[in-house]
Amino acid sequence: MPDIRSQYTDSLHFYGKHSPHDLAAMFGTPLYIYNESILRRACREMKGLSSHPGFGVNYSVKANANPALLRIMREEGLVVDAMSPGELFMNKLAGFTAAEILYISNNNSQAELQNALDNGLLVSVDSISQLESLGRINSGGKVMVRLNPGIGAGHHAKVITGGKDTKFGIDPNMLSVIFSLLEKYKMTLAGVNQHIGSLFMEPTGYLEAARILLGMIASFPSQVLHKLEVIDLGGGFGIPYRKYDGEARLDMVLLGTSLHELVSSWAKQHGYTGRFLVEPGRYVVAECGILLGSVYAVKNNGSRRYVGTDVGLNVLMRPAMYDSFHDIEIYRGAEALNTTEPLPQTIVGNICESGDILAKDRMLPEIHEGDILGILDAGAYGFSMASTYNQRLRPAEVLIGCDGSARLIRHREKLEDLAACLEV
Ligand code: LLP
Repeated sequence: MPDIRSQYTDSLHFYGKHSPHDLAAMFGTPLYIYNESILRRACREMKGLSSHPGFGVNYSVKANANPALLRIMREEGLVVDAMSPGELFMNKLAGFTAAEILYISNNNSQAELQNALDNGLLVSVDSISQLESLGRINSGGKVMVRLNPGIGAGHHAKVITGGKDTKFGIDPNMLSVIFSLLEKYKMTLAGVNQHIGSLFMEPTGYLEAARILLGMIASFPSQVLHKLEVIDLGGGFGIPYRKYDGEARLDMVLLGTSLHELVSSWAKQHGYTGRFLVEPGRYVVAECGILLGSVYAVKNNGSRRYVGTDVGLNVLMRPAMYDSFHDIEIYRGAEALNTTEPLPQTIVGNICESGDILAKDRMLPEIHEGDILGILDAGAYGFSMASTYNQRLRPAEVLIGCDGSARLIRHREKLEDLAACLEV
């Protein structure tokens, strides 16, 4: 169906047998919609980065934890991380077994570490004190350590997780302390991991960090090196959010070729037969998700045109938190196909915060009350960061299957859910 601004989703048949209007009418808005074919394609692209035996994709569940999506990833051969008992719970609901889950977390209580061990997971620690805590309850067992390679990358200071200015990872200068604690608790170092940050569009920094990590591992005493089972190089692979500006994609061929060469030659040189993992969150799920919202009010305050929607910062936090850009489509249906030249419009939500802005002075055809908006690339860190701020309910989630049909995979919260934990 022709629409005001929908070329991108039209070209992908994103909504399958449906139109955004049908879906909004069937399930209400705000509504997260995921496309199964696009999800599967992203999984395969990630897995295709290297054909090295033992190369695998460890999906980082924090980007989106809906078990319906996790089940598809499992079918595609991905494994998952968990960083909290809640993520572990979701992974298990989706059918992942202990061998398919790595516990990659930080600053955990003894009880949380114990819970991960009780579930049979390999646990990554990212500080000396957590290594001690784990040692006390897992003497003779296995452990993984998260090292900080000293460099970081990311779209915003809040998502850079490598280098001196972050809380993450163990300083490699502490390696000797790590080895003596392993000795003290008779623990085996089964894995090493890192994550330098989220959203890079050039492969260089990631490859450099991978080289640094592999260099550090190569310096481990050989009895330690030979017991390593997994080396996890982290995530951060970016997607182009500026779809309508033709933003270039991350060059996965270049990245894959270099990564494959790096890991296979390193493995050969060091006689390493264990696994190499990459740990993407965003790349796997961002582009398969679109958030539909309704326009309920339009007004001018001074010279600025405001478009009032039901997509508050409680539903999609990224623009308010990081000034993130999400492209926006406008669906009006067949009746009123009157488009104007783009004009600046500020699209806002229904939350009582002046920072509740989805897009500021965005050049778009004039948006009208009654329009449906499609917020693109909302599959990663969309629903997973949603909240009930202002006691608004978290949205429903729908999956468009490979056959084009729509299936509810999470219903909209109900008012009673707001009272679920109250002691009254
Ligand atoms: N591994 C670890 C240990 C992580 O902390 C993260 C993300 C990932 C993997 C996956 O990173 P990705 O491939 O998705 O970039 N809320 C922010 C992103 C925060 C990322 C947190 N850690 C956003 O909406 O941009």
